[in-house]
Amino acid sequence: MHVEFYERIWMWAAGGLIVLFLGTILVMSAAQAVAPQSHLETIDPASLASNPEFGSPGVKPGPDGGVVVSVVAETFDFSPNPIEVPAGKPVTFRLTSADVIHGFEVVGTNANAMAIPGYVSQFTVTFPKAGEYLIACNEYCGLLHHNMTAKLIVKKGAP
Ligand code: CUA
Repeated sequence: MHVEFYERIWMWAAGGLIVLFLGTILVMSAAQAVAPQSHLETIDPASLASNPEFGSPGVKPGPDGGVVVSVVAETFDFSPNPIEVPAGKPVTFRLTSADVIHGFEVVGTNANAMAIPGYVSQFTVTFPKAGEYLIACNEYCGLLHHNMTAKLIVKKGAP
């Protein structure tokens, strides 16, 4: 089969890129232990009510002078709501879902994670300024998805 010279160059270039990208993923995952999620913790979504942490979701003192916020997402609410956290201190969110996949986005910040049934999503952020933020579900979860919001109150000083 005859392939044009320039066609041949592009074929090799595209093939080279695919090898390069796949190779990068392989090397990164093997050499630097990079995984899609840094924190893997499972939980039974059917027994959240009797779970010592998520049975009574809320804000608790954290080990580093900050707070730990356990949040349960369930169509179409977040619990607790509102969430009150201190400004300028590390806030560790621990999210899970009681039913379907929900989003948890603190609008206007980079705090954004998914709440997935069966898993606990955890991340830590610091809110430098006091104020009120909107928490929005950003994964389509049903007819009232657009109503699934909560309020985050960031307060100066202790929680
Ligand atoms: Cu919950 Cu969309």
